[in-house]
Order: sequence, then C-alpha cells, then structure tokens
Amino acid sequence: MQPLGKLRLGVNIDHVATVRNARGGAYPDPVRAAKLAEEAGADGITAHLREDRRHIADADIDALMAALSVPLNFEMAATDEMQKIALRHKPHAVCIVPEKREEKTTEGGLEVAREENRLAHFIAPLREAGCRVSIFIAADQRQIEAAHRIGAQVIELHTGAYCDAHAEGRFDERDAELEKMREMSAFAHSLGLEVHAGHGLTYDTVKPVAAFPEVMELNIGHFLIGESIFRGLGPAIAEMRRLMDEARA
Ligand code: PXP
Repeated sequence: MQPLGKLRLGVNIDHVATVRNARGGAYPDPVRAAKLAEEAGADGITAHLREDRRHIADADIDALMAALSVPLNFEMAATDEMQKIALRHKPHAVCIVPEKREEKTTEGGLEVAREENRLAHFIAPLREAGCRVSIFIAADQRQIEAAHRIGAQVIELHTGAYCDAHAEGRFDERDAELEKMREMSAFAHSLGLEVHAGHGLTYDTVKPVAAFPEVMELNIGHFLIGESIFRGLGPAIAEMRRLMDEARA
C-alpha cells in the first residue's frame, strides 16, 4: 500500500519549558523554540498543559496561540478545567491523554472503552468548537473501536512500549509491538480514523513507524529537545524530517 499522504512532524516543546522551570525564570522560551521548529520544517507544535503545570504553563498556551503559523496540537487530560481552557483557545487539535500526577511522563494510552460515555460527552463540545479530537491510546482493537464510537476523528498510537523494548534490547518484544501497531494502524484507518503516533521516538526508532502507510503524523519531543543540546534545534529537527522522508519513500 502507498502512504496515504505526506507524513507530518509535530514537535513537542514541553521540555523546553521543563528546563526553564528548573530555574523559574523566562528562558529558554518554549515559544521561541516553537518558532524555530516551524522554520526547521515542523508541520505542527504540540504542547501538554498538565494539571500540575510541571512544564508548559497557561501563559505558554496563550503565547503559542498568538505566535504560531502552524497548527497547535493541545494535549490535555479529560478534566473540566482543561476542557474550559481548550474551548477558550479553540486550537486546531486537541489530544486527550491519560494523566497521573506521580508519573514522569504519559505512561500508557487512555482507557477509552471503560469510560466511553463520559468521554463521548467530554469531546462533543470540543468537536463542535471545530477542534480535531485525537485520543492517545495503545494499539488495542477495543480502544480503537471505542475511540471511533465516541466520535474522535484521530487516534494517536502510543509508541512508548516499542521504544522502551528497543532501548532495552528486548528485540522480540519490540518487533511484536511494531507488528501490533502496524495491524492497528490499518484497522483504525479502515474505520475512517486518522492515525498519528508518538512517544519516546528517536532517530533509531522512527523509521519503522514512519513507514506505516496509514500514519499521517508523528509527535516527537523529548529526544529532539535533548538532541538540540548537541546539534541545535533546527538541525535536530531537520535530521528527524530526513529520516521520516527516507522511511516514507
Ligand atoms: N504524543 C503524546 C500524546 C504525548 O503525550 C507525548 C509526550 O508528551 C508525545 C507524543 C511526545 O513524546 P516524547 O516527548 O517522548 O517524544
């Protein structure tokens, strides 16, 4: 199967804010990073406003909405507070993620199947406001079917288990995760869902995921911000773009 279209790169700038917040000042400025990412070829910017505001802050979302020329993908938990903020800004896309205060990062996908009714009501006003609603889930048929039933337009597959297995040398598990994502990308597409993927992707792990023909967008943050220490943000993004294009060709 031919790829369904150009693969977009969403650059997640959360961890520019992590470094800023380590000292509590104004730099490095995540909005400056987002503008640089745009110039380097990012097709969108992703930011996760967490309940505890450990990285991105409310003022960053205000500033990003005002400054960006590319779409903002606003990641948030399914809470009333976040829904109000999203409805005020009406970003291009809203990605609903599970959130636990004690976790270092978003550990798994959202449990949609168990919370179908609540989530259907939760996302309806976001859709009505014109946001594309994406649900961050594991590559699991039950969750994909539930995301489809509640009216999400997009699913984002959690690539964390695949990336962890690769990093820890568990290659059979890595390949099994990849196979699951390949099958579930095709399944989600067959239901009419747009498929995105992300979490933990690096130069070493991006290509097999970028090669899935149904995947239309990758959201990548932590690795790129880390890599920018060594080669600068623009070149770090350009290299990711190159690898994605190579995998897609
Ligand atoms: N996609 C989603 C839904 C996420 O929650 C995150 C992490 O915030 C990412 C992508 C990016 O993950 P990473 O920072 O590990 O590249």
